[in-house]
Amino acid sequence: MNQPTAKIVVRDLYKIFGANPQKALSLINAGKSKDEVHDSTGSVVAINDVSFEVGAGETFVVMGLSGSGKSTLIRCVNRLIKATAGDITIDGADVVGADEKTLRDIRLNKVSMVFQHFALLPHRTVAENVEYGLKIKGMGPDERRERALKALDTVGLSGWGDVPPANLSGGMRQRVGLARALAVDTEVLLMDEPFGALDPLIRNDMQQELIALQRDLQKTIIFISHDLHESLMLGDRIAIMRDGSFVQVGTPEEIVGNPADDYVSAFTKEVDRGRVFTVKTIMQANEPLVMGRDTVETAVGRMTEQAQNSLYVIDDARKPLGLVNLTDAAGAGAGHDLKSLVVDDFPTATEGEHLIDIYDRCSRGAPIAVLCSQGLYQGMVRPRDVLSELAAQ
Ligand SMILES: Nc1ncnc2c1ncn2[C@@H]1O[C@H](COP(=O)(O)OP(=O)(O)OP(=O)(O)O)[C@@H](O)[C@H]1O
Ligand SMILES: [Mg+2]
Repeated sequence: MNQPTAKIVVRDLYKIFGANPQKALSLINAGKSKDEVHDSTGSVVAINDVSFEVGAGETFVVMGLSGSGKSTLIRCVNRLIKATAGDITIDGADVVGADEKTLRDIRLNKVSMVFQHFALLPHRTVAENVEYGLKIKGMGPDERRERALKALDTVGLSGWGDVPPANLSGGMRQRVGLARALAVDTEVLLMDEPFGALDPLIRNDMQQELIALQRDLQKTIIFISHDLHESLMLGDRIAIMRDGSFVQVGTPEEIVGNPADDYVSAFTKEVDRGRVFTVKTIMQANEPLVMGRDTVETAVGRMTEQAQNSLYVIDDARKPLGLVNLTDAAGAGAGHDLKSLVVDDFPTATEGEHLIDIYDRCSRGAPIAVLCSQGLYQGMVRPRDVLSELAAQ
């Protein structure tokens, strides 16, 4: 995403469970560890000084081992749990200090939550379950039914509105949970391992569906996950959480490419790098040759200077015409026409393509021209850089 405006801002957040949270907080602030605080006070420091922002339309994934504080964090954001210290704002509105009326407004109109185990009302139909939040909001029956059916349609459950939830499979029930959140149409979605209980194939379907939905809906999402592949697939950014703190926050490429410590590496080491890294990561935005301006001599000079075995030649409009090889140019000698040396059969790619998908295009050994959507030259990718990126640990 480009320069997001912050929708959710969390600053210096703490959540301590126990009889005397303020005492525990002062011990933490005095530099005691989570274990020391627990030993001396019996309190659990579930969130320990967490700060972050989530941009409008961003999917922010929080990942970490069981007990690291993920659910507590997300529950603080809609104040199912009240933070012990720190600030949370949504669209600038204070959540931590909000009165009952403001809280109600936030939960009805701003933030919806989807849980791992979604409890559907068994004696209501699927559509009635989806309507539930709208009914609480005081919406009339016709309008809320229409919204519910549309939300069911969005999650691929059109035609299932009139049956009881018991007739649905686990995956379908989870879709109902998502439909319920979508029907309310809040800008913020908090999702606590919503696909965690699904079997892998259905889970993958749901992930793909969420990606497609998000492309259209551009919700602001905090998504909690145990699973790195899920996190990498869904997250614009990922926060890795340990013992109540964020160890690292970054894009999928930053997390995998530059894990902050052994805890993060333990999550990332099994990752298929080719599915995380894109052409953009290893593209060289180098200076190409320009037809009609550059000569064979400049070609040899520039390749030597850039330590390249070949360079792209572009026209005045930056359209690539082909490649010139160092051996051909050096062998041709001064005064030779550059045009006659251009190899016009060359591989191309775009910045957003994953390395795994351009792997086949490396087989010829020639650099791949990276083009923008208008087909203009942006840079090149060398096969050896693709291979070394894929092989890196
Ligand atoms: N209501 C509570 N009372 C006391 N301690 C709690 C409470 N809720 C959570 N905790 C503790 O806070 C810590 C964080 O728990 P939390 O449920 O947020 O972790 P999580 O990362 O969501 O774990 P999981 O992946 O298992 O869902 C844990 O040590 C947990 O035992
Ligand atoms: Mg949890």
